[in-house]
Amino acid sequence: MSDFWIAPSILSANFARLGEEVDNVLAAGADVVHFDVMDNHYVPNLTFGPMVCKALRDHGVTAPIDVHLMVQPVDALIGMFAEAGASYITFHPDASTHVDRSLQMIRDAGCKAGLVLNPAVSPDCLRYVMDKLDMILLMSVNPGFGGQKFIPSTIDKVREVRQLIDASGYDIRLEVDGGISAKNIAEIAAAGADTFVAGSAIFNADDYKTVIDDMRTQLAS
Ligand code: DX5
Ligand code: ZN
Repeated sequence: MSDFWIAPSILSANFARLGEEVDNVLAAGADVVHFDVMDNHYVPNLTFGPMVCKALRDHGVTAPIDVHLMVQPVDALIGMFAEAGASYITFHPDASTHVDRSLQMIRDAGCKAGLVLNPAVSPDCLRYVMDKLDMILLMSVNPGFGGQKFIPSTIDKVREVRQLIDASGYDIRLEVDGGISAKNIAEIAAAGADTFVAGSAIFNADDYKTVIDDMRTQLAS
């Protein structure tokens, strides 16, 4: 794994052959599997849950699975995803009544914990829980659907949160999610991100390796 992680979002994969899609994207050089959980309540769409995560583990996936919970409430799913083989579990602070407790529950369940901020949510809420975070995920689209356009104001937020992480001294990954492609990945990295979710840019391409290689070339530039 390089310092920059590419995290394909399986939201844009072909669900009819999900195991094969995940195998292919990992063979093409992806670092982690981004797993978008939607509940048709917190976001206006519905995807998959812990059983599908477990099915990927049973299929033989050993790469980290980065579970992005777009659900409300959050807590009941934490233990289930930990059991199902999640590596990271991230949730939106506005979806949990007791954010500190939910973060602690994730770590107690043996997973890495993270918070996800929607485009209009201020980073202020991170300040008092930095010691409980392994990942901060900044949404660069409004959550719910793949294939949306990157919201440019995210770049300033990435810079701000990078400073917050560096000043804290904690080892926290800074992930960005939505509208990322080889065209804008270098700019997002330059602002301070180290983990990049990409759904449609990868899964809508004919050759996953070409896209991932292209992203890595941009990151090295
Ligand atoms: C949106 C999801 C994203 C999404 C990214 O709610 O959290 O992970 O699938 O897809 P693209 O890369 O197509 O914007
Ligand atoms: Zn996501």
